[in-house]
Amino acid sequence: ESGSGFVVVANRLPVDLERLPDGTTRWKRSPGGLVTALEPVLRNNKGAWVGWAGVPDADVDPIIEDGLELHPVPLSAQEVADYYEGFSNGTLWPLYHDVIVRPVYDRKWWAAYVTVNRRFAEATAKVAAEGATVWVQDYQLQLVPKMLRMLRPDLTIGFFLHIPFPPVELFMQMPWRTEIVEGLLGADLIGFHLPGGAQNFLYLARRLAGQPTSRGTVGVRSKLGVVQVGFRTVRVGAFPISISSAELDEHSRRRSIRERAAKIRAELGNPKNILLGVDRLDYTKGIDIRLNALEELLLEKRIDPAETVMVQLATPSRERVESYIQMRGDIERQVGRINGEFARVGYPVVHYLHRPIPRDELVAFFVAADVMLVTPLRDGMNLVAKEYVACHSGLNGALVLSEFTGAAAELRQSYLCNPHDLDSVKDAIVSAVEDDRDTKRRRMRSLRRQVLAHDVDRWARAFLEALAQGQVAGSALL
Ligand code: G6P
Repeated sequence: ESGSGFVVVANRLPVDLERLPDGTTRWKRSPGGLVTALEPVLRNNKGAWVGWAGVPDADVDPIIEDGLELHPVPLSAQEVADYYEGFSNGTLWPLYHDVIVRPVYDRKWWAAYVTVNRRFAEATAKVAAEGATVWVQDYQLQLVPKMLRMLRPDLTIGFFLHIPFPPVELFMQMPWRTEIVEGLLGADLIGFHLPGGAQNFLYLARRLAGQPTSRGTVGVRSKLGVVQVGFRTVRVGAFPISISSAELDEHSRRRSIRERAAKIRAELGNPKNILLGVDRLDYTKGIDIRLNALEELLLEKRIDPAETVMVQLATPSRERVESYIQMRGDIERQVGRINGEFARVGYPVVHYLHRPIPRDELVAFFVAADVMLVTPLRDGMNLVAKEYVACHSGLNGALVLSEFTGAAAELRQSYLCNPHDLDSVKDAIVSAVEDDRDTKRRRMRSLRRQVLAHDVDRWARAFLEALAQGQVAGSALL
């Protein structure tokens, strides 16, 4: 057996196994930006994908279709609790997102993280052909590059982090900071969305150099874009991720989508302004902030509840993690309070759906929305902002965007705001609603130029080409 020449390793497969009440199962698309971005890349490259099927104790065989191989890695219920809900989403996620919620440092969770990362490395070592390229994804698998290199020194290993990489002052909280940095340094190329994340990592690699660990010391010498680990050179760079822009642009122009968008507007009572939020229900997304802004604008009569509706589509996420349970309650109370205060019977001001939304329906909502609200406190990139832009070929619509998203570095013609400054969010919303048609068209044209020119294929090509030509000067990457 020869194995695959190109392997993606991610916590999740692009599809989740769903167990139906009648005991049968079916596959459904996994949530989140990582899958949105990588699925088209892998389909074009005909590789293998190693990942978890999304439910505990699922012992499923590899799936092979259209030359695409999916290799499930099983997790026990305890591992889901300790590795996925615990260390990945109760420790790393909040630590890497500016400690919006306090990270929990639990030795049992760390032990499970090590065990599961080793299982992913072993599964990948079995799937990869001699000399293959392996691309490891995201914060759940930061130990895999080093573990995999020890098993398979013949492989070319890339790593990409889909979330922010935090400032050194925050990262230094991590009890297992040296192990994580060493784990990442097992890769040949480490990619971040923004130069800032790459700089944070380079600084850390330097700072942790020579610190004693259980496995001895690493000698790390770093300069811009390059870390020297013994005889190996690890390169570090910024590669902002994107979407399949042209495909979504085409999708959004379809007649069926346009008709559905018109119908959505009618169903909402033909309001003058539809404000839209689309997020995984996550405390990093600032859903509470946009609701606060709306509430104050209604109170101050700067927004007329007879002309305006807000739709918040919230995909359920990490529903057993305590901070998510709490945030859900807070947001649902807030929606209830705003409607209690400002709605008329039959005409809520805020429409809130807590469920996964089918793709066509989502695209129709993007098309229908006059103002898109993207207000995270911190977000690695935020592909929803780019998706909204791709859906507005008519140059109508306006994007309100938090400065604390990776997307803000590229989408400079959006209505930028600071989510920590409620007045700035309110002013951005009011401008996005009230600016004249020409201003909005000019802004949208510029946003579209950016999004259509920088699509996900370009992102993947940039990363994989840099990975292939290991000799490229590191400073060119930053
Ligand atoms: C973000 C992360 C992904 C993750 C996704 C969905 O986009 O970067 O790694 O898969 O959220 O979250 P979940 O916990 O459901 O996989």
